[in-house]
Formats: sequence, C-alpha cells, structure tokens
Amino acid sequence: MRQAGRYLPQYRELREKHSLRELFFTPDLATQVTLMPIEELDFDAAILFSDIMTIALALGLKLDFQEGPKIDPMVRPEHVDALPFVYETLSPIWETIRLLKQQLSVPLIGFCGAPFTVASYLVEGGLEGIKKWVYRFPQQLEWLLEKIACASIFYLENQVQAGVDAIQIFDSWANVLSKEQFLRFCLPFYRRLIDAAKVPVILFARSLVLHIEEIKDLPCALSCDWSVPLSTIRKTTTQTLQGNLDPDFLYAPLDVVRQETRQLLLSMKEDRAFIAALGHGIKPDTPVAAVKTMVQTVREWIPC
Ligand code: CP3
Repeated sequence: MRQAGRYLPQYRELREKHSLRELFFTPDLATQVTLMPIEELDFDAAILFSDIMTIALALGLKLDFQEGPKIDPMVRPEHVDALPFVYETLSPIWETIRLLKQQLSVPLIGFCGAPFTVASYLVEGGLEGIKKWVYRFPQQLEWLLEKIACASIFYLENQVQAGVDAIQIFDSWANVLSKEQFLRFCLPFYRRLIDAAKVPVILFARSLVLHIEEIKDLPCALSCDWSVPLSTIRKTTTQTLQGNLDPDFLYAPLDVVRQETRQLLLSMKEDRAFIAALGHGIKPDTPVAAVKTMVQTVREWIPC
C-alpha cells in the first residue's frame, strides 16, 4: 500500500515537476512511478500507481489533490440522482496498465476503493459528513454507494481487461461503522466487487478483524492491520492472510526491523496462505534502508 509514495527520493524528484493528477493520468509517468519500488526494492508484486479517488472523475465530479483528494463541489444528498457516468475519463489508466505489463517481470496489482470509503471523500463534511448521511439520509447513502459500486465495477473490469493480475479493494474507513451499519453499507458491496473482478482479490479494511465472522467466507485474501496477530486470525479463517506489520516499525533501528519481520514470519511459518506485508501504507518519511531490510529479511527466510 502506497509503496510508491513519498518516501522514495526518485518519486519526490518527479513530484517536484508534476502534480499528482498529472502523475496519475499520464501513462508514461504512472508507469515510471509504479516501476520505482520494484527496481529499487525487489518486491514480489507491483501496485498500479493511481488512487482510489480517480473514480470521482467517472461520476462527473471535479477532483484535485492537495493534502489528499479534494472534490469540489462536494456531494449533497440532492445531487446523487443527477451524478452521471463519464467513463472515458479513466482511459489513461488502461494505457498505463498495458505499458506496465510490457515491462514488468512481477505480477501487477490493480485496485479500487470500496464504495463506503470513496463516498467518505465525496460527501460534504468528509468522514463526519458521511456519518450524518448514515443516520439522516441512509437511503440516499445507499443510492450513492450503488452509483459508486457501478463505476467501480466498470473500473475493475477494465483494469483486468488491460492486464492486472489481482485486485486490492480498500475500505480504509469501514472502522467508523457499527456492525449493523457495516452489514448494510459495506459487506454487500464487497461481494459484488469480488464477483466482478474475476482475478484474485485482496480485501483491506481497517479493523477488518472485528467483522471476521461476516467476511470469513468471502472468496478473497484479507489484508490485516496490526491490531490482532495473523496467527490469531488464522484460527477463524482459511483465507489467505496478508500483513500485518505496523508501518511505524520501519522507524526502528535496522536490527529491530529484522527481528520484528522474523517474528512475523516465524508466527506464520508453516502457513502456505500468507503474504508478508505491512498492515497499512508506508509513511512519507520512512527510511528506504528499513524497507530494504524488511524485504531482504523476507527473501532470506527459508520456511522449515
Ligand atoms: O502504493 C502506491 O503508491 C499505489 C498507489 C496508491 C495511492 N493511493 C497513491 C497515492 C494507492 C493504492 C492508494 C490508495 C488510497 N488512496 C487509499 C486507500 C489506502 C489507505 O491509505 O487506506 C486512500 C484512502 C486514498 C486517498 C488518498 N490519496 C489520501 C487520503 C491521500 C493523501 C494522504 C496521504 O497519505 O498521502 C492521497 C494521495 C496519494 N495517493 C499519495 C499517493 C502515493 C501521496 C502522494 C504525494 O503526496 O505525492
């Protein structure tokens, strides 16, 4: 997650010359950024350089990136009906995927946001605003989620057609909902997105483990944060588990990075359905040497 982010000096150099929107929508540049961590750090898979919020353009909204995605004007309940579908806005992304597939020697992971998390960046008031929709305008929220889901399915299908090998779904803000709300506003959409993808799917949601009983039968891998050890989650599900190191551990001295990585590997040592990874995105000021140490430690690990 955010492996191509601001912690790489090559990325920061490119970013001085180009806006985020330019990077996301210029296939040559997006390709270059996607390849950076693969060339520099030897990961097993690349993640497409794009953003979960590019989908806003397909809903006819104006999107800019400052300190994060900015939608202007933001969506109000009375706007939902009139949101159009402007699918051609996303086509540079298919071109990026085609270029990447010609150059990559590792699999390429595409992605989208889950409708609830995308909606939380679209509506007036952001995360606080969307909680108002949950209680005051639940039907308009469902309708908005439905529209985002349709656009996301189109988005996923086109990524797969252009060549991505797997899809990751991000529901970064699902943790602000109660169980009942999660069952209504999140879970049904996971099923539809997973069905539409037709390639392996990895699902990330903050505090996913709170809903493990509800998601343990979904046909997807689970990307887990660090709130509960993977070996504990394993007791409840046979799904592939990804994670779950706290990204802040990369600020520790390198020998601690090595030790914590080994501890995770050891805790999952006979598990064939385990992907060693961070439990969330890499922070911008993370030392590259720490990321390298983590990757090397995983590479050197010989399962008993
Ligand atoms: O690993 C990668 O770099 C792949 C591309 C990728 C980006 N965003 C690029 C990006 C992916 C997979 C995402 C997902 C994303 N985007 C999520 C879900 C994952 C998560 O973090 O929970 C969310 C919620 C977003 C929305 C978003 N995009 C925010 C809130 C921000 C600003 C805050 C931040 O952490 O940077 C962005 C900007 C963004 N998207 C950057 C990158 C590399 C930062 C770029 C920069 O400032 O130069």
